[in-house]
Amino acid sequence: MEKHILVTGGAGYIGSHTCVQLLERGYQVTVLDNYCNSSPQALKRVEQIAEKKIEAIEGDIRNQALLEQVLRSKTYSGVIHFAGLKAVGESSEKPLEYYDNNVSGSLSLIRAMQSHGVKCMIFSSSATVYGDPKYLPLDEAHGLGPVNPYGRTKFMVEEMLRDLVASDSQWSVGLLRYFNPVGAHPSGLIGEDPRDVPNNLMPFISQVAVGRRQHLNVFGGDYDTPDGTGVRDYIHVDDLAKGHVLALETLIERARLLTVNLGTGAGCSVLEMLKAFETACGKPLSHQVQPRRPGDIATSFADCRLAEQELGFRAERTIRQMCEDTWRWQSNNQNGYS
Ligand code: NAD
Ligand code: WQD
Repeated sequence: MEKHILVTGGAGYIGSHTCVQLLERGYQVTVLDNYCNSSPQALKRVEQIAEKKIEAIEGDIRNQALLEQVLRSKTYSGVIHFAGLKAVGESSEKPLEYYDNNVSGSLSLIRAMQSHGVKCMIFSSSATVYGDPKYLPLDEAHGLGPVNPYGRTKFMVEEMLRDLVASDSQWSVGLLRYFNPVGAHPSGLIGEDPRDVPNNLMPFISQVAVGRRQHLNVFGGDYDTPDGTGVRDYIHVDDLAKGHVLALETLIERARLLTVNLGTGAGCSVLEMLKAFETACGKPLSHQVQPRRPGDIATSFADCRLAEQELGFRAERTIRQMCEDTWRWQSNNQNGYS
């Protein structure tokens, strides 16, 4: 019998790419999304790529009655929980919205799962839970100390899930700490579609490339890095999606707590990424070096050995593929899904 998976936030950037791979692996997928940062159009495109149907439910993870109804409607083997707000800057301006959406929302969901005996969850955590690196590469044993409200919401949900697994050995939980997800499905049909001015590097560069923005602001040219700009561990969103499917399969097989980084293990600077994107789109892109962005660190990259040991996961796609796939998506969909 086909296994059925509930995906919260499945219309979003990482969720949509993961849904494609779940369908391709033969899972049945129900998505619960309130579309506060996405479009139902993304799910239509997912169905087009996979040539399979998704059950899409419009709704909020904070709606306990709806969650009960969804979880009662069929037997789920697990939940992949992407739904949440993710803008670091905004989380300092509107902390209560972040705690409500990310922490209370997750609590409602976990409660509903508990009461329906669905005890397998994959949670979208973030490398941001580590805070300022004390050493590199960042391994999972590194201390936790998020430095903004967004990061603290991820930390709190991690803590909640750790306590839950400690209280009940039937629970199976994956805490996946993503580094910097970028790229798009190679079909060019789905990709990242920020609603406002992009906060993140890759969508900003790609909007410069299609002429929606004049130039890239490079935040800081005086870091202690080879070219003075910030270094990050960019991972292709399809590699990340594969990590979710592997984690799900491992966790369905055996109940446990699994905490792993999902990255490539290699760092890339802002200027290196800009250059790679210029090659992908075939034209020079204007940039201006600005002061550092508050809260940024110089360098972050993952120790990926645990994900390989525990899941057999290894990211395969290169920076070049990340840029080429982003460019295909952005140039075919200049205004995203709208
Ligand atoms: P996204 O905004 O594209 O996707 C999140 C989805 O959740 C959206 O479709 C949104 O409409 C939905 N959503 C938000 N609040 C909801 C609610 N209360 N009820 C129902 N649906 C809701 O973001 P993404 O980049 O795909 O990120 C997915 C998850 O991964 C998030 O939890 C994010 O914090 C986490 N994460 C993202 C990154 C990144 O850089 N993209 C890095 C680390 C962790
Ligand atoms: C990358 C590099 C910037 C934009 C964030 C969150 C993190 C996680 C991933 C969710 C840095 C520089 C950026 C621009 C620039 N998200 N930059 N000009 O900050 O590493 O991580 O997204 O969990 O929690 O903090 O990613 O893409 O914003 O920045 O120069 O317009 O690009 O300074 O060096 P970051 P990013």
